[in-house]
Amino acid sequence: MGDSVLFEQSGRVAILTINRPDKMNALSEGVRADVLAALDRIAEDDGIGVVVLTGAGEKAFIAGADIGEFAGRSPFDQRHAMRSPRIFDVMASYPKPVIAMINGYCLGGGCELAMSCDIRVASDKASFGQPEINLGLIPGGSGTQRMPRLVGSGQAMRLILSGDRIAAAEAAQIGLVDLVIPHEELRAKTLELAARIASKSPLTLKVAKEAVRAADRLPIEEGLLYERDLFCLCFSSADKEEGVRAFLDKRPAAWTGR
Ligand code: COA
Repeated sequence: MGDSVLFEQSGRVAILTINRPDKMNALSEGVRADVLAALDRIAEDDGIGVVVLTGAGEKAFIAGADIGEFAGRSPFDQRHAMRSPRIFDVMASYPKPVIAMINGYCLGGGCELAMSCDIRVASDKASFGQPEINLGLIPGGSGTQRMPRLVGSGQAMRLILSGDRIAAAEAAQIGLVDLVIPHEELRAKTLELAARIASKSPLTLKVAKEAVRAADRLPIEEGLLYERDLFCLCFSSADKEEGVRAFLDKRPAAWTGR
């Protein structure tokens, strides 16, 4: 694993920590490459069911793209820097659930990365925003597309056009964040949630994530048909047989991920 991303494992939960606290964990090319490499490795590891993404230090989750890399850069160089695979898309289609544990500033590309995760859990000290407008830019890591889907067009316009920063409580109120936790309890409570999710069948988690993600792109009629097909597909798994049998036998299920 590269130096800019720290890896820890707690049971079936992997914790990835972006480790540039002196630069507010800004997403440089190197950080993005290290995150992608870590995700690649974790995807193949059957011992890990859930990924938690967070930032090192007391102040920032991620304060956006590394602004230093933008100065003097040509459009072609920028296009190269934005080549696929992009962490935002990899996160959204990742085969395991990813929880953003937002411990501080969650700005620009950091907010876009959080929005690409499946669940956002924030410290009550965290703050959120898309300040690219102040740099003569617009969000380029999926913010103009993911934010309106999460919070509606009006709130997305307000944040993207003004560059205003909002506190965690307001972010939760508009649906940008799913849970707000007192800062001191953030890690413990997030890891509890992650462990609960990681105790489910990995196979079923993958299918559930795929079904919910489809709601981002499919019209409701097609989404409902897709859900029905995926639901029926679950009937081919050993874990469905085990889950139903365990309920009827009044015992905990023992998942095999098959
Ligand atoms: N890219 C590169 N460096 C960044 C950065 C970013 N997105 N965000 C913060 N840093 C660096 C600062 O340049 C500073 O570096 P230095 O110590 O070498 O001067 C260091 O991180 C600390 O930041 P600082 O601004 O001194 O801390 P602060 O507590 O006063 O403010 C923020 C924190 C996050 C509000 C402020 O740094 C900020 O507005 N960052 C930019 C956010 C942004 O526009 N993101 C969108 C990018 S597209």
